[in-house]
Amino acid sequence: MRIYENLFKTSENRLPQRAYYIPKGESKFMLLNGDWRFRYFKRDIDLPEVIDSWDTVKVPSCWQMTGYENPNYSNINYPFPYDPPYLPDDNPCGVYEKDFEVTDLKGRVYYILEGVSSCAFVYINGEYVGFTEGSHLQAEFDITPFVRTGKNTLRVKVLKWCVGSYLEDQDFFRMNGIFRDTYILVRPENHIGDVYVEAVGNTVTVTADKQAEVTLFDMKGEKIGSANGQKTEIAVDSPILWNAEKPYLYTVRLCRAGEIIELQTGFRTIEVSTKKELLINGVPVKLHGVNHHDTSVSGGWYQTDEEIESDLLLMKKLNINCVRTSHYPPTPKFLELCNKIGFYVVLETDIEAHGVLRRKANVGYLFDVESEDWPGTNPDWLAEHLERMERAVKRDRNHPSIIMWSTGNESGHAPNHKAMVEYLRGLGDMRLVHCEDACRKGENDWSDVYSRMYPALSELEAFAKDDAIKTPVFLCEYSHAMGNGPGDVYDYNQLFDKYDKLIGGCVWEWADHTVVVDGVQKYGGDFEGELTHDGNFCCDGMVFANRSLKAGSLEVKTAYQPMKTTYENNILSVKNRLDFTNLDEYDFKYSVEVDGKTVSEKTETLNVAPHESADLNIELPEIKASLGAFITCRLLKDGECVAHTQHELSAEKTVTEFKTEKPEITETEGEITFSGKGFRYVFSKQYGNFTSMKVEGRENILAPVKLTAWRAPTDNDRNVKVFWGNYNIWQGENLDCQFSKVYSVSLEDNVVTVSGSLAGVSRKPCFRYTLKITVDGAGRVRYGLVGTVAQEIIWLPRLGFEFLMPHSSSGFTYYGYGPEESYCDMHHGSLMGLYSSTAKNEYVNYVRPQEHGNHFGVRLLGIGGLEFSGKGFECNVSSFSSETLEKAEHTDELAPDGNTHLRIDYKVSGLGSNSCGPQLIEKYRLDEKEIEFKFEIRPR
Ligand code: GAL
Ligand code: MG
Repeated sequence: MRIYENLFKTSENRLPQRAYYIPKGESKFMLLNGDWRFRYFKRDIDLPEVIDSWDTVKVPSCWQMTGYENPNYSNINYPFPYDPPYLPDDNPCGVYEKDFEVTDLKGRVYYILEGVSSCAFVYINGEYVGFTEGSHLQAEFDITPFVRTGKNTLRVKVLKWCVGSYLEDQDFFRMNGIFRDTYILVRPENHIGDVYVEAVGNTVTVTADKQAEVTLFDMKGEKIGSANGQKTEIAVDSPILWNAEKPYLYTVRLCRAGEIIELQTGFRTIEVSTKKELLINGVPVKLHGVNHHDTSVSGGWYQTDEEIESDLLLMKKLNINCVRTSHYPPTPKFLELCNKIGFYVVLETDIEAHGVLRRKANVGYLFDVESEDWPGTNPDWLAEHLERMERAVKRDRNHPSIIMWSTGNESGHAPNHKAMVEYLRGLGDMRLVHCEDACRKGENDWSDVYSRMYPALSELEAFAKDDAIKTPVFLCEYSHAMGNGPGDVYDYNQLFDKYDKLIGGCVWEWADHTVVVDGVQKYGGDFEGELTHDGNFCCDGMVFANRSLKAGSLEVKTAYQPMKTTYENNILSVKNRLDFTNLDEYDFKYSVEVDGKTVSEKTETLNVAPHESADLNIELPEIKASLGAFITCRLLKDGECVAHTQHELSAEKTVTEFKTEKPEITETEGEITFSGKGFRYVFSKQYGNFTSMKVEGRENILAPVKLTAWRAPTDNDRNVKVFWGNYNIWQGENLDCQFSKVYSVSLEDNVVTVSGSLAGVSRKPCFRYTLKITVDGAGRVRYGLVGTVAQEIIWLPRLGFEFLMPHSSSGFTYYGYGPEESYCDMHHGSLMGLYSSTAKNEYVNYVRPQEHGNHFGVRLLGIGGLEFSGKGFECNVSSFSSETLEKAEHTDELAPDGNTHLRIDYKVSGLGSNSCGPQLIEKYRLDEKEIEFKFEIRPR
């Protein structure tokens, strides 16, 4: 047995965990980030060994990102056999070497690794110092006996796998190397080791392992008090409380032996009310959260401090107030910024053993923790579980932002987890214990919140009403944000707001994980040598990998926004959804928009206390509108919109009548031609639709207009396109291979009546219809479609007409939900308005190409020589056909065909989040059996 396969020796000479800090004063901090000598070996080598040639790599980094191994993305499967504690005979290895100088050797010298995957052997000047496992946890070694004045050589041998890898089966690209900061501390003798700071009531208590001079400062840097001792208490008169909206921090300064240690602390209480609300400082708070993995397009697991800060600042802009550190402790900098910027943190330790359940085929999601195969069950693994929890707690417990401890993810719930929970409860630190697997198993007492992932709305509502659930309900994961979506985040938040007991949840997940090769984003299966992979399941962020936003990001922002409004009988009621902030810290602006033009606007400061509402009496003049009139409310901070709502106003409709004059009509055996001043339309009896629509001599359509029901499947369609429950739908009905059949065409006066159907190959028709097309003397065309959807069809992806237009028609103007793409279940982030765009601009760069660019609630669309109008249809203008989008697996496989693809749809089904979440919410499915769709086209 090799040391890295020994479950009972997962470290050697690693110091006991202490609180995270970087000492100042007489101590010296030598950050070793930068160029290191490096060698990669395909198998473990014995050290010391003479290595005669070296490469140079930057540290921190992951060797999959610096060209030594191909990346491999695996969700559940372990990338090696499940045979703990053993690992494959050939265990790849990276040897890192770096020189450092110690000028004046006195005191003690330490070497720290903030993150190394999967394990590391540390050597100084050729002598073995120690060994560590636990990739996302801190490791510190006392290297004093090995260091000499002058030049020293540090060598770190890192192995790809170790027994700890069995507890690190998180869903991500599997990476290796020294991937977080690594540094040396030279500290005076007799310095402080561990220190624990608690701010409770009006006292800051500092417990260090040695006596120290302790001073407390407020946020302005003013001294509040000081004390001397090993355990000191400093009272604060009327302390200002910390919360995620107003993160007020105090600074604790400890001085000892010439060294200064500064720590942030904050006063805040965490309780559960009798109504099972989450109370922060006595106030019920909803967690508007997101799951954060450390992921960077260039760094893999290594995110620079700047990247981390910009992630958190962007989250703040998107109204997020809670982060679950899925599924391991983040780099310490992350938590310091959470304290400062203001987030409620669910701190999860570095444990996931998801792959065990894939041992046997088809075991489903049954966590068979009765079996001792499970690390959580097997007593041999107890110490390692406890140690991973303790290392997280001891490193991070001084951070006021942390409100829950989490025992890990997807590892089952068994005695070793229970021991972790007991350890956490023994801390007595007011934080709640989070243990999703306990709740999944029905052992609710082992968790302070009833935590679940991905329940359907109806299940969530049942949890809220279930008296047997005696704790707040928290969704550690919901609204799987993969690809185009999520389409349900707004609905979940409505439910969170409705029930006290639902305290919110965390969207899965923050950002896409991708590796860019030649400018193209790649994912699982794109790399040679991936023995097991999970395709593009790693591209499930609510922001793209480069942190640019998508419509789904704005949908989350709106679901989490600080304001809600209602408008009825001239009363605009504005509710403050914030917990600790008066709305008077924002500008409230409302405007009246008629047919997309602002006719009046007003900005006010509203004095509305948290959770309260204010009513504004809005006097409006008589409004006449041809498209619609809306009152749009915006909450602004420093000119930036943080929240928006809209209400439709009743307006007198100005309409232009359909002309009774008839066009000129000529009929041949195959065609009917309608013409008049400035237009000439040719209708094909063969295809039951127009084949030419010329306006002022210019052709608008390049192919027959087609009735279709297919869309290029989104990632969230991945489950329906093949199977759905017991039914095969979409592909079961072969909707991706559709035939159109025209049974008959008749012309009566200026009305053509078509009877036809749509059918998937080898299937009975899924839709039978009658289409009436009326053309007037001014070239206005009325479409009236009436049809029946077959019983077998559970729901259709969409239904409407496709127009193939020339490239010159790629610019368009519409009145509907925009400017981002919008769908029936993802339009809260957009606003009804009048917008202009182009097919190119509508393109959304989803990592795996898919349906995108839709607009919901459209009343008018002007494109090329045509104007489409209706009571609320959907439109989509694209440079790509659905077929092209569907075929492409990566963005570089998409080539525009030079045409403009226009869809005028009756309805497009919602997006949902079924890639991992529940089935699409019923009200967002196009599941009607009787369909009636009317719209009008006129020359423009
Ligand atoms: C959850 C898991 C996450 C992630 C997600 C799918 O079950 O906890 O880590 O795998 O599914 O994206
Ligand atoms: Mg998992």
